[in-house]
Amino acid sequence: MSDGRGVTDNVLGQRYGGGAPASIAPANEVIALLQRHRSVRSFTDEGIDDDTVTLIVSAAQSAATSSNMQAWSVIEVRDPDHKAAISVLAGDQAFIRQAPVFLIFVADWARHRGVAEHRGEAAEGVEYIESTLVGFIDAALAAQNATIAAESLGLGAVYVGAVRNRPEELADLLELPPGAFPVMGMALGHPDPTDRAGVKPRLPQDVVRHRETYRPAPDEAIVAYDDAVRTYYAGQGMSHGWIGTILGRIRSATTLRGREKLRAALERRGLPSK
Ligand SMILES: Cc1cc2nc3c(=O)[nH]c(=O)nc-3n(C[C@H](O)[C@H](O)[C@H](O)COP(=O)(O)O)c2cc1C
Repeated sequence: MSDGRGVTDNVLGQRYGGGAPASIAPANEVIALLQRHRSVRSFTDEGIDDDTVTLIVSAAQSAATSSNMQAWSVIEVRDPDHKAAISVLAGDQAFIRQAPVFLIFVADWARHRGVAEHRGEAAEGVEYIESTLVGFIDAALAAQNATIAAESLGLGAVYVGAVRNRPEELADLLELPPGAFPVMGMALGHPDPTDRAGVKPRLPQDVVRHRETYRPAPDEAIVAYDDAVRTYYAGQGMSHGWIGTILGRIRSATTLRGREKLRAALERRGLPSK
């Protein structure tokens, strides 16, 4: 049975391409929610009120954060012209314009620098790649909490890594100060009930889960997974698998769509990578 949004009763069958072990049956509602995650790229016209975003941001702020630094911020964008301008800089993805709310999670050391500056203190630690990584990790953890919170409320979300395609222009548009840098966007809205995107298969656990020490994945497992992904996309009238997609993505720097220049952009925006 399907809920009309591409999610069937057999969520774990969908997640593992039919080979789900019985031991991963959802133990509770939280795990069930996590297991039926799917990115939503098509939204109805229904809006999201301010209180709902406040609730979602409270979940984001409740994520663990390195040394309680909270080295992230989120920019909430609702204005249609603003969203349109952002979408141009972020791969021209239509769902950015369609979603009632677009969130941009930002690695943010500007706040900490300000606290130090105000007290005449140095902030040398911010100039190291470790701090940049902390900002990105904190932002990602917060964003994932926001996604889960949104999904628990019946909303749909999709991340937008393309906010890093032209990050400096986006930073200007959002008036980000030096030390603040876009990490990932998130389109948020009510899922279009006619959208066919479902629960996407993941690699078998044996491929990603290593016991004690790392073991490379056998190619047969990769080929079997490629078949599962191909079957998933065939259900949506598409014909690609996993292997071709990842090879296309890593073959050369051109597929990074501007992100190959990220290191220099970070340096220029006040996040040097020493
Ligand atoms: C950091 C990050 C960036 C992403 N950026 C984009 C994006 O720019 N456009 C898009 O359509 N999907 C984007 N996605 C969504 C992924 O394509 C999606 O999560 C993946 O294909 C797995 O599908 P699922 O989320 O439905 O399980 C992004 C996901 C992550 C985690």
